[in-house]
Amino acid sequence: MLGRVASKRLLEIRQYPQSSGSLSTALNYHIDSPDNNPNVPWEFTDANKPKVKEILSHYPSNYKQSAVIPLLDLTQQQHGGWLPVSAMDAVAKVIEVAPIRVYEVATFYSMFNRSKVGKYHLLVCGTTPCMIRGSRDIEAALLDHLGVNETVTKDGLFSIGEMECMGCCVNAPMITVADYSNGSEGYTYNYYEDFTPKRVVEIVEALRRGEKPPRGTQNSERINCGPAGGNTTLLGEPKPPPCRDLDAC
Ligand code: FES
Repeated sequence: MLGRVASKRLLEIRQYPQSSGSLSTALNYHIDSPDNNPNVPWEFTDANKPKVKEILSHYPSNYKQSAVIPLLDLTQQQHGGWLPVSAMDAVAKVIEVAPIRVYEVATFYSMFNRSKVGKYHLLVCGTTPCMIRGSRDIEAALLDHLGVNETVTKDGLFSIGEMECMGCCVNAPMITVADYSNGSEGYTYNYYEDFTPKRVVEIVEALRRGEKPPRGTQNSERINCGPAGGNTTLLGEPKPPPCRDLDAC
């Protein structure tokens, strides 16, 4: 049974998809705040300055803008998993483009976080196959269990977002856990598949206890991406294609 908060939020998403948007939409606009405005000084650390040079060396000097994605990645790692506007401005300066060029990239790719995220950033796949297989219920279970929306839980452990298809539709519904528990430089993206609302809560609680729950399918009847319950076709040894008897030609 869904809690009232989550149910209400879901209703809003369903009734007003344009205005309330998906969970990830709010990360794509900027409102100045004390820790995120163009006047907050930001520069690469001494340790990262050589890395910036190294990244730039991969591209022709007149195409520095091609380095925007790896530089944003480095920036996000340096800044604890998210990109304040002044950090994006610093990247724009390095690659000599207008800041808007960098904002466009950072807001397009959902692996870039435009606001603070939790140690575990839980990204629910919201695309059609996962939605048909119950991703809205997964999202509702998370919202209900954690009691947050586009913010981070008070203990800083969890935040929730939504991503588009993560290429794992065969085991829908699925979520990705962006795991920053080893620091933003050691973060990993872990797929959890064949989810149920009950199982997603169990995984969250395991993460809270510092465990590393097994990734991949959560359906014990499935091996990797194979059919649940075992193969129903191609049961025997594959037959080789018929060969011509060349001697008979
Ligand atoms: S639709 Fe969810 S992984 Fe493709």
